[in-house]
Amino acid sequence: MSFRLQPSPPTRPNRCQLFGPGSNPKLFPKMAASAADVINLDLEDSVAPSDKDAARANVIAAIGDQDWGHKTLAVRINSLDTPYWYRDIVDVMEQAGDRLDQIMIPKVGCAADVYAVDALVTAIEAAKGRSKAISFEVIIESAAGIAHVEEIAASSPRMAAMSLGAADFAASMGMQTTGIGGTQENYYMQHGSDRHFSDPWHWAQAAIVAACRTHGVLPVDGPFGDFSDDEGYRAQARRSATLGMVGKWAIHPKQIALANEVFTPSEEAVAEAREILAAMAEATARGEGATVYKGRLVDIASIKQAEVIVKQSEMIAG
Ligand code: COA
Ligand code: MG
Repeated sequence: MSFRLQPSPPTRPNRCQLFGPGSNPKLFPKMAASAADVINLDLEDSVAPSDKDAARANVIAAIGDQDWGHKTLAVRINSLDTPYWYRDIVDVMEQAGDRLDQIMIPKVGCAADVYAVDALVTAIEAAKGRSKAISFEVIIESAAGIAHVEEIAASSPRMAAMSLGAADFAASMGMQTTGIGGTQENYYMQHGSDRHFSDPWHWAQAAIVAACRTHGVLPVDGPFGDFSDDEGYRAQARRSATLGMVGKWAIHPKQIALANEVFTPSEEAVAEAREILAAMAEATARGEGATVYKGRLVDIASIKQAEVIVKQSEMIAG
């Protein structure tokens, strides 16, 4: 480890973030009753411009009216290039109750975007005597966002989570696809007659994970648009989990169980991690830094790898 230690991210389950348009209040009770860890009430791109005021009023009412249980409750505001975002923050922070946990800022392009929201939120918290500090989650979904991803992760002590928004990201990058996440037809390697599909989201995901882990922020995978394709969702989520992300969005309720399944370490994975820890404890007692587990090398780094899985499992169970 560097002399500068890696900070821990917030210890909360963040396996699934369920979205619903603020303009569709019929969904709010279903969202509240769902098995998602995080709720994102949307004021942004699932709400038509003509519905922005009504959606804001619906969301303010729902924050106080629904029983959100132990979920992390967030509102996605409009981006800073729109005329809506300041009123999203002012009205929600002044009028909604203390149940709100988090504000999601979309299309963040630089640390100054977060600074602007932080300044406004801090002033309203002080003026209104709000006792609970609002946390931030941001969406990386532009070329500028990914180019400045580390300064964004470090931009505010309020920073709790960061998601990759595949659709806007693809558009901003000029990618030739209309798919939201998952396999893309034209992104493949050809070897003889074998075709192997590569992952066009891999680099952005790894960059987000590195920035988040450096600064104690939860890295999250964003939407998977084709909610009829369970196996496609699972495959994308498993890649994200393997890369270090802690959860994924659901844009339809059928995606919630898939996310919870993938981002809850399996019993087999936890059992194996515990066996590795036991094998290493025995090795350490013998004065050895490395040993053999199931025919493969495990050493002191394996302890840290195994602890990631055990700690994630214990945090979710707790
Ligand atoms: N949260 C909770 N429940 C939801 C839901 C959501 N986001 N989306 C749909 N449901 C409910 C429906 O109300 C319906 O309930 P019912 O069985 O009691 O009637 C059930 O799940 C099945 O819904 P279905 O008919 O398959 O979908 P739909 O056509 O009603 O809605 C979408 C499809 C995509 C429009 C809708 O899921 C949606 O608005 N998703 C969120 C979009 C969003 O927030 N985008 C922003 C982030 S990218
Ligand atoms: Mg977007």
